[in-house]
Amino acid sequence: MTPKHFKRYLVTSALPYANGPLHLGHLAGVYVPSDIYVRYLRQRGREVISICGSDEHGVPITLKARNEGISPQEVVNRYHELNKKAFRDFGISFDIYSRTSNRIHYETASEIFKTLYDKDVFVEKTSEQYYDEEAATFLADRYITGTCPHCGNPGAYGDQCEQCGTSLSPTDLINPVSTISGSQPVLKETRHWYLPLDRYEPWLRQWILEQHREWKPNVYGQCKSWLDQGLQPRAVSRDLDWGIPVPVENSEGKVLYVWFDAPIGYISATKELTPDWEKYWKDKETRLVHFIGKDNIVFHCIIFPTILKAEGSYILPDNVPANEFLNLENDKISTSRNWAVWLHEYLEDFPGKQDVLRYVLCANAPENKDNDFTWKDFQSRNNNELVAILGNFVNRTIVLTHKYFDGIVPEITALTGQDKAVLEEISTIASGVEQSLELFRFREAVQKAMDLARLGNKYLAETEPWKVIKTDAERVRTILNISLQITANLTLLLDPFLPFSMEKLRGFIQFEGRSWELIGTPDLLKAGHMLGKASLLFEKIEDEQIQAQLDKLMKNRTENGETEQLPAPKEEITFDDFTRMDLRSGTILEAEKVPKTKKLIKMVVDLGFEQRTIVSGIAEYYEAETLPGKKVTVLANLTPRTIRGIESKGMILLSENPEGTLHFVEPSAEAKNGAAIN
Ligand code: MF3
Ligand code: ZN
Repeated sequence: MTPKHFKRYLVTSALPYANGPLHLGHLAGVYVPSDIYVRYLRQRGREVISICGSDEHGVPITLKARNEGISPQEVVNRYHELNKKAFRDFGISFDIYSRTSNRIHYETASEIFKTLYDKDVFVEKTSEQYYDEEAATFLADRYITGTCPHCGNPGAYGDQCEQCGTSLSPTDLINPVSTISGSQPVLKETRHWYLPLDRYEPWLRQWILEQHREWKPNVYGQCKSWLDQGLQPRAVSRDLDWGIPVPVENSEGKVLYVWFDAPIGYISATKELTPDWEKYWKDKETRLVHFIGKDNIVFHCIIFPTILKAEGSYILPDNVPANEFLNLENDKISTSRNWAVWLHEYLEDFPGKQDVLRYVLCANAPENKDNDFTWKDFQSRNNNELVAILGNFVNRTIVLTHKYFDGIVPEITALTGQDKAVLEEISTIASGVEQSLELFRFREAVQKAMDLARLGNKYLAETEPWKVIKTDAERVRTILNISLQITANLTLLLDPFLPFSMEKLRGFIQFEGRSWELIGTPDLLKAGHMLGKASLLFEKIEDEQIQAQLDKLMKNRTENGETEQLPAPKEEITFDDFTRMDLRSGTILEAEKVPKTKKLIKMVVDLGFEQRTIVSGIAEYYEAETLPGKKVTVLANLTPRTIRGIESKGMILLSENPEGTLHFVEPSAEAKNGAAIN
């Protein structure tokens, strides 16, 4: 595969909200891959800039400020600094880490809004929205709770019911309540500007579905499903007092929607970085690549490109390698439940081990599907891969060179067929790594790069210099020369992935080369070159350290009162009440995820006397493919409901743990399909 050639690269990484600290899900999904990519490009000598910063607008920030009794500006100041430092500490090498409360950003976003406004791109519409009369403010969706019309959950939000996964609009809620004052909100007319995505649909279809078939399947698939459902005009202003004021007449109390201004933050940050910003944003020879998480796909693939297209003078993203989500110990990462590994805390517990986390998150990145981070896997990747393969190889090589040749690179005396094959393999491995990186397959890339260390280990194991030294010291010169060449090549090949350790390793062997093009060239370390002082590159991680992390997570859970959050006992019912329920044993025959929903799976269940279609909100806990064959308990006489256009007849019983995880109530293996449960 020869990728299209670009003159320069503009790489952006999703601007994290400055309303909380960063955790390893952020690193795995966005920042580790983007950093590997830009480090690789820099090493290849490509012209590249890497852009990021804090996203400082939006409702979650105002909510947080309100909860803590401080101003939104104070919230973002705190987390901007914290997150900027966390990125620096982990070697995430942005060329700039800016922020959207900067003046240059206000100007840039306002200017783009104005241009679109003057071009008559927007549609102005008046609609009724909930207003809190006590607090004298319109209520963003997340500021309203009420009862879900689909499942009866009393704590549904104005945009979504987290119990059944249905996406809602505030007016769907039964008994809506303002979370600000607790009062019942009233509907009031308000006017907003809408981006008419519907008008851009034919162009988007062409641009994405025809011209960008190479996008990752998860990204392409999500775009296609949005486009196939038909796009609606989308409001780009909000009634809020935190954000960039709408820069046109008669717009008091209105600010730009956070998803209008935030991606423009990439442009403002570039302006802040260099007066030469236009060559990055307006020259067709620039390759624009957005690194994001999957919840950002529609904004980066549909909405932002539409804004850029409507503006007219900007380039569009050439690729958007979005990742899926990373879970932690089999449970969704959650800030509010403190179910996370915070980057600043990791560094306190594992000082100097940034690369271990970078490595594990890359090797186990949620590239094509959600993935799980476990501390056990972290330990075994460290101990069995970084220590046992990479560390072991370079350590043996360096120690033996010091022992036999006083730390001076010995010369090659004669090359065997095996030696030649090993030397040739270096370039082959490097081109494999390149190919994977160009396709944004970072898991594959790091595995391939580690193959060079595997090759080195195998070479040492087969040539056994520690034995041969007794009989043929000349041969050992060649063996260690070759092992040292492999070591020097490793510093080049692994630098994008393990920048701290490769810096160390370069010191151990006193090697200064950095360019990717050096990989595979003969004699990277010349005979006679003096090595430096070495120590261990990686250390074993002990069981106790892992247990301490698990204990800490569990402690957070208990401190959150999660173990006490069992539901209160319900009122007494009669036996007759109970027998009105037609409970049956059944077996799932088919299961598929309902497109465009987070939680819903549609199943066909065999109840013995008939087969039923049932929709259930379990997609976060079960993969559809694993379901056929599973036994379930079904409430068979529940009034059918239509969910997302699918008639669901009956309900599958699930146990719900205090932390929200769901599990089937499975009848025993002997229960036949249709067997009554009473
Ligand atoms: N703050 C958003 C999030 O964390 C991402 C914004 S990306 C940008 O989901 F493009 F809008 F900046
Ligand atoms: Zn619901």
